[in-house]
Amino acid sequence: MYLKGENITFGYKKNSMVLDNVSVSLGSGEVLGLVGDSGSGKSTLCKILAGYEKKYQGKVNLDGKEIPTKGYNPVQLIFQHPEKAVNPKWKMEDILNEGHSVSQETLDSFGIKKGWLNRWPNELSGGELQRFALARALGPETKFLIADEITTMLDAITQAQIWSTILDIVERMNIGVLVVSHEKNLIKRVCHDVVYLNDINNV
Ligand SMILES: Nc1ncnc2c1ncn2[C@@H]1O[C@H](COP(=O)(O)OP(=O)(O)OP(=O)(O)O)[C@@H](O)[C@H]1O
Ligand SMILES: [Mg+2]
Repeated sequence: MYLKGENITFGYKKNSMVLDNVSVSLGSGEVLGLVGDSGSGKSTLCKILAGYEKKYQGKVNLDGKEIPTKGYNPVQLIFQHPEKAVNPKWKMEDILNEGHSVSQETLDSFGIKKGWLNRWPNELSGGELQRFALARALGPETKFLIADEITTMLDAITQAQIWSTILDIVERMNIGVLVVSHEKNLIKRVCHDVVYLNDINNV
């Protein structure tokens, strides 16, 4: 299976393009790094690939088909600030199990403690909340994970633990991952290959 963005052109404002004719392809089980200057459009491309931003020119497809707009999204996007991805009025247990029931094994592998399940999102640290976001995103129907600076706010040890868990799961489930990061060491350690956005963007 593959996730492809083909000839993606996009700007937030008229006559000011962020992405011009960008093409990128990610296969099942592949861990691909996406690197580029700050403001070069990485997060914008992530949103387009995951179906969050729709007003682009070009094509995004999963094995030649459009990404489904209803039901579970097989392309899961995780970004730097997990607090923006959760409903502050829901308890963690409900947030976690919204799309599907997350297994105890997954909770354990991300180090999610039982006592956290009964808390509100604002009662957890950014790192703890990100573990929930990942456990929830790596559901049985997930085919691709778009990871946009997901461990930027964490210390080195926690970052290493979380990535080791992600890599175990994606390998087992044959999920393809796009890894956006400014950290060269992380990209080198976890990615099979790297794409430089500045090289493939014609702006
Ligand atoms: N909602 C928005 N409305 C208008 N302009 C935006 C919006 N979001 C981003 N931009 C602009 O689009 C450009 C690309 O932003 P984007 O967030 O994709 O960059 P990035 O490569 O992810 O940067 P960083 O490495 O700092 O996260 C920037 O110039 C930014 O100011
Ligand atoms: Mg960004």
